[in-house]
Amino acid sequence: MTAEKKFPEGFLWGGATAANQCEGAWDVDGKGPSVIDALTCSRDFSERFAGVGDYYPSHEGIDFYHHYKEDIALFAEMGFKIYRLSIAWTRIFPQGDESEPNEAGLAFYDNVFAEMAKYGIEPLVTISHFEMPQYLVDHYGGWRNRKLIGFFERYATTLFERYQGKVNYWLTFNEINMATFLPQISIGSKAEAGESQEEIMYQALHHQFVASALATKAARAIDPENRIGCMIAYAPVYPLSAKPEDVWAAQRKEEEKLFFSDVHARGYYPPSKLAYFATKGINVTFEQGDEEILAAHKVDFISFSYYASSAASFAQSGVPGEGNALMGEKNPYLAESEWGWQVDPLGLRVALNTFHSRYQLPLMVVENGLGAVDEIVDGKIHDGYRISYLRDHVKAMRDAIVLDGVELIAYTSWGCIDLVSAGTGEMAKRYGYIHVDRNNDGSGSFDRLKKDSFHWYKKVIESNGSDLE
Ligand code: BG6
Repeated sequence: MTAEKKFPEGFLWGGATAANQCEGAWDVDGKGPSVIDALTCSRDFSERFAGVGDYYPSHEGIDFYHHYKEDIALFAEMGFKIYRLSIAWTRIFPQGDESEPNEAGLAFYDNVFAEMAKYGIEPLVTISHFEMPQYLVDHYGGWRNRKLIGFFERYATTLFERYQGKVNYWLTFNEINMATFLPQISIGSKAEAGESQEEIMYQALHHQFVASALATKAARAIDPENRIGCMIAYAPVYPLSAKPEDVWAAQRKEEEKLFFSDVHARGYYPPSKLAYFATKGINVTFEQGDEEILAAHKVDFISFSYYASSAASFAQSGVPGEGNALMGEKNPYLAESEWGWQVDPLGLRVALNTFHSRYQLPLMVVENGLGAVDEIVDGKIHDGYRISYLRDHVKAMRDAIVLDGVELIAYTSWGCIDLVSAGTGEMAKRYGYIHVDRNNDGSGSFDRLKKDSFHWYKKVIESNGSDLE
């Protein structure tokens, strides 16, 4: 029997954004400042955090706050079945510790969901995408403080109640493993003198795991139709050579990433992590009941971002890699983007198989794409390089579904409309099918323009992935 080279009926095609990278309106209608709002724009991370420069890209983003109708109409024109967006925690609870939510913030997302419903676009909502309230960092020390579990639970419950019947798919924390790479924006906690940053990080993460499980519990209690997933930044790690030590190094790095999906999907810490804690003398406080909470409220599906793969050697003898998370060493067999991210479509098939064979849960690829500089020539953008990247990755997903039996239910490519880069704050690093007239220095009209990839993706969706030319 020959398998048909097709995506399953009802496959959810779409795109993804995050509030802090597109909404703008950072202090409008009662919104409070989030950790991202203090960051400037620079390819040098430490400069962004030190506030070098006077341009804060999240303050205006691409002004989705005032353009959402136009943008959603464009998504609908491409045929989106699903749109992944995040809710800004600081629109709903401006400080994070209030007992009552901000009505204007809730109303904004009512309007966004109503607009999506007009076109039959299913929302996939990230509850926290690098948008924690700055107040929780300044006054509570971020996620190392157990009180944040309760604040997050209240925030998530408010969303489940308000958007019941409008939203069915939820992700708790964007790229929860980013804490190891970008602690400032994902856990908001740092070690004091004499403390171990690693121990603080794992304690903060433990609180996020418990918060995620409690949110899952609340979502199900409020509406049994709710489906909750975790979200992992994932890049398969290949051994740099066939040397057993390199294979070992790669496997260890791989386990570091999968630890995060293990806790969400299996409901407990893997023995390898507990052994690691014991060896390093890391103490993570579990309160009574935590183990039961993790075990009782596991996720319904796994979602992950995939941009590139990475390599590892025991001696760390390779060239350091670039990428969105925990990138190891460069793979000499792969080409790379202008930002040094290595392009590896087969790596996506590897990733899908890894998650599928480990958990046998439905999967979503919720971020994937090529960040590139686009040029407007005679009012058009011929982004064949982006089409070619996406085409190869869509083929890899198709192979994983058809040839490997992977249960993949959705694909939301990253930055379906150009937006601010999370890593650098740049606008010049564009992922979209839709161009936005906005530059690194904050100039630009916010006008939207369809790229060649817009028309290509429309055909892909129309043909349910059969026509990729
Ligand atoms: C992921 C994030 O790490 O990568 C997104 O979830 C981010 O927020 C994306 O935008 C791409 O990274 P960058 O740095 O190119 O924006």
